[in-house]
Parts: sequence; C-alpha cells; structure tokens
Amino acid sequence: MGWENRSDCHVLVIGSGGAGIRAAVEAEKYGTVTIISKTITGKGGCTVMAEGGYNAVLSDTDAASVHFEDTVKGGAYLNDEALVEALVSEAPARIRELFNWGAVFDLTSENTIAQRPFGGQRHPRTCYAGDHTGHEMVMTLLERLRGSNVEIRDETTVLELLKDGDRVIGAVTADRNGELGVITADAVILATGGAGQLYDVTTNSTAGTGDGYALGFNAGAKLIDMEQVQFHPTGAVYPADSRGRLITEAVRGEGGILKNAAGERFMERYDPARMELSTRDVVARAIATEVLEGRGTALGGVYLDVTHLPAEQIERRLPVMLQQFLQFGTDIRTQPMEVAPTAHHFMGGLAITKNAETTVPHLFAAGEVTGGVHGANRLGGNALADTQVFGKRAGMSAGKCAVSAKSVNQKALDAVEEKVSRLFDGDTMVSSVRSTLKKLMWNNVGIYRNELDLKVAEREVKKLQEKRLKITSPQEIAGAYITENMLTVAGLVISGALLRRESRGAHTRSDIRQKWTAETSPFGHTWFCQDKAGIDIVEANL
Ligand code: FUM
Repeated sequence: MGWENRSDCHVLVIGSGGAGIRAAVEAEKYGTVTIISKTITGKGGCTVMAEGGYNAVLSDTDAASVHFEDTVKGGAYLNDEALVEALVSEAPARIRELFNWGAVFDLTSENTIAQRPFGGQRHPRTCYAGDHTGHEMVMTLLERLRGSNVEIRDETTVLELLKDGDRVIGAVTADRNGELGVITADAVILATGGAGQLYDVTTNSTAGTGDGYALGFNAGAKLIDMEQVQFHPTGAVYPADSRGRLITEAVRGEGGILKNAAGERFMERYDPARMELSTRDVVARAIATEVLEGRGTALGGVYLDVTHLPAEQIERRLPVMLQQFLQFGTDIRTQPMEVAPTAHHFMGGLAITKNAETTVPHLFAAGEVTGGVHGANRLGGNALADTQVFGKRAGMSAGKCAVSAKSVNQKALDAVEEKVSRLFDGDTMVSSVRSTLKKLMWNNVGIYRNELDLKVAEREVKKLQEKRLKITSPQEIAGAYITENMLTVAGLVISGALLRRESRGAHTRSDIRQKWTAETSPFGHTWFCQDKAGIDIVEANL
C-alpha cells in the first residue's frame, strides 16, 4: 500500500464533542486545523447528550473560592488544585462567551443566566437550558465551527498516534470505508471523551469507548486515577433497551425526592444534611445499598418523585424528562420515575498541566479524556464547564506550537498494515469480546469493589486481550482497534482499583477497612505509564 491518503495541518483535533469543537475553534486562530470525528461532528460525544447544566460563579452572593472548595471536597481531595483553580476562575467567561455566541440558556426575570442547585454545591451555580443544556451548547459551537476554516472529517477513526522521536506528529486513520490515511500535524489534541461503554449499563453514547486514553497511553503519556469511575445515581431502569439512560440530576435540583420500594426517603440515612443534593458518589452508593439490601423495586431500582412539584415547573424545566418518560408510559407529573445507578463519567485520564499539555511533547488534551480536574468524584455541572475552559486552553496551547518538519516512520505504517492483515485472519468476533467485557466490568468493577472480583476481572481482561480479533471487511478495521482500546482502558481501571487500597470518592473497596478520611488519606494519584503503574504516597499523611 502506498499510503497516498495523506494530509497535513497545523493542529489536529481528535474528538468532536464540546471540548474538541471548542479547541478547534481556538486553534484556528493560529493556523490550519482538522477536526476528526469517528461519528458525526457534534453528534457523537457526551456533551450533546448532557442535560442538567454548566457550573459557573455568576452572582455576587457566590464566589470562585466557594466553587473551588465545593469541587475539591466533592472530589474527595484527590483533585489537582491548579486545574480546579483554572476551572472555577474561567468557567464564567466561557459561559458568557457561549451566551454571546447565541446559546439560548434559561434566564431570570432580570434577563441574567438562570442557575439551579446541583449536588454538593453550596450555591445554586448550575446554568442551564431546560434539561438539554449540552445540546444547546453544541449547536452554538457548531455554528462557530461551520463559520470557520476548520476542516471537518466525519466517520474517521484514529487508529494510532504517530511520533517522531518523543514528539507526537500526527495520526493514522481509517475512514468509513476502511481506507487508511495519515494526517500529520505540528500539534495534536485529544478530546475523545470518556469510556462509559466499558460498562453494560451506561449513560454514554456508543462513542464513549475511551479511545483517547488508549491512544495517549500507547504514545507514552501518563494517565492518573483511572479507577475513579463515576456512577450517575439516576439512570433509567426500563424499558430494557434504555437501561442506564441519563435521568438528569436537574430532577433532584428542581426538588425531586428519592424513595425506596417501601416509600422511605432513604437519603436521610446516608446524608441527612444534603439529602438528594448530596454528591453523586454518596447518592449512587445509597441507591445501590438500598437495592442490595432488598429495599429496591422489582426491577432493581428506587423511585425518583417529582409529583409534588407544580406541573408547570416540570413542563418548563424538565421537558426532555417529561417526554422521555411519556414515551415509556409514565407521566412524571403524576407518577414517580424508577431509577438506578449507571456508569457515567471517568474522573481519571491523561495527566495535564493547566495549559492542557500532556506529558508527551506536542500532545494536548481536554475534557473527559483528562484526569485530575474532578479528583475522585465529579460535581454535576462541572463537566460542561471543563469542556469549555480546557478546550479553549488546549486549542491555544496547541496553536502556539512551533511549525516544524515531521518525519513519518515508515515502519510504524508497515506495522499498521501487518496488523490489519492479521485481523482478517482472526477468529473472534469483536461484538462477543465487547459484550463479555461490558458484563465483566459491570459485575466486577462497579460501585462496590473487592480484591477477589478485581483479580478475576484482571485475569479475564488478559484472556480477552489474547484473543485474535476477526474482521471480514475494511469497514470493520476501526471497530477492532476500538475494541482493543476498550480492553486497554479496562486493564488500567482494574489496575488502579487494585492499587488504590482505600475507599475514596467513587471508588469503594468493600474489602478494606480504613482509619483515614479522604482529607487525611496517605494516598495521592494512581498513575500509569506504558509498562509501569503505581500510587503516590502523601508523605505528610503517612
Ligand atoms: O445529571 C446530569 O444532568 C448530568 C450532568 C453532568 O454530568 O454534569
């Protein structure tokens, strides 16, 4: 093969959710930009599906220092504080920018951006557009993108990052027909989102397969805290093919009440001060515990009730929820919803600086593919802010990278061709590997974890990695690479969960008794770098 499908740009953005598009819009100020989406730009990521809102300090009665403290406390003190500082100080400017670009957020009677309460926050700080906030943001960002010179390549999957020495210089791609290509760039931004698809029950779209974690890891980048997987407390329980679908935290923000099958408002037992507006790790564990101890519904959930709220409030503030449940035969104005936890967000990911630099030269990252901003548990509403703050920063840092000569290593391209031919000779269908993996992760690496289950998961993932994936047409090349990425990421999550011998934030080890609190923990980040992994020790707390 001649690899004649080649192109070059100044900045290559991989991933087209909120962070990727924001990064591309920024990077275009510095030179040519190509954005690649394995789905359709703006449609595939999680941002467009995000419902509840965007956290920003906009009122004089709130303060960035309070947003900072809420984020770090909610994150069980595992956050990288420089990243949190960047998030809270810049989130207001980024949402005002979206507003000025035409985003239609809900407004107060004084025509300022309205804000609602969300879990773990001492101030109503979550800006919103009904319960379709992410959709509104992405539609606005797409307008900016379409008005720019950014080249958009849809249905194109990155198979591998290319390096020249220790520097990233581009990527090998496969388009919708399986045609392979090379894009070289002075700088590359990973904005590929999370990996909820590792789990059988998830809020994530099918695109949430964690490609960026694996691409970065394979290129030598450092990742942190991969065990920290957030289970959103409220996912749909029925119908079966919608299990896990997001029931927004805005339902609780608007006053929704959680009850078990016996009608008890059980959050009184778990967090009497904050009740339903406790942090997600606490609420998800509470629901899981109610169900495990036999106080759940027949379908393995609990009730989320808004029937005490005025119908007009539900219709205006939660229109997507209302329509979604009406389609399933439930009128939430008069009947409770049934909900259960669902894999939602990866707090861990590529280690970055506040300028979105990874540990690999010329490789930048933004959004859920990064780790450190949210510590061990993300506050609802901080992810959308993260996409805009760090998307812009990544675009700016990558844009400022020097233009330089790039030498593509022919051996790396030959290796891709050899691997593709091996895939045609494989014997195991991608779909069977994925479905085995998803069940394994759900059952063994879920909300409650223990060493035995984790060791079983570790062994089973290794077995899956040893299988010879089979494809029958070039169109399936991308799917095989993505499946390998999922296995790589699963291995990192399990390895982190074994290393972190404590319960912290979203990671609960039911087999370990600990004397310390999150604030006095002797442990810092878990970290992963090619063949090495470990956990930082906080000397002061030993
Ligand atoms: O519940 C939600 O609307 C999700 C928001 C988030 O994950 O930030």
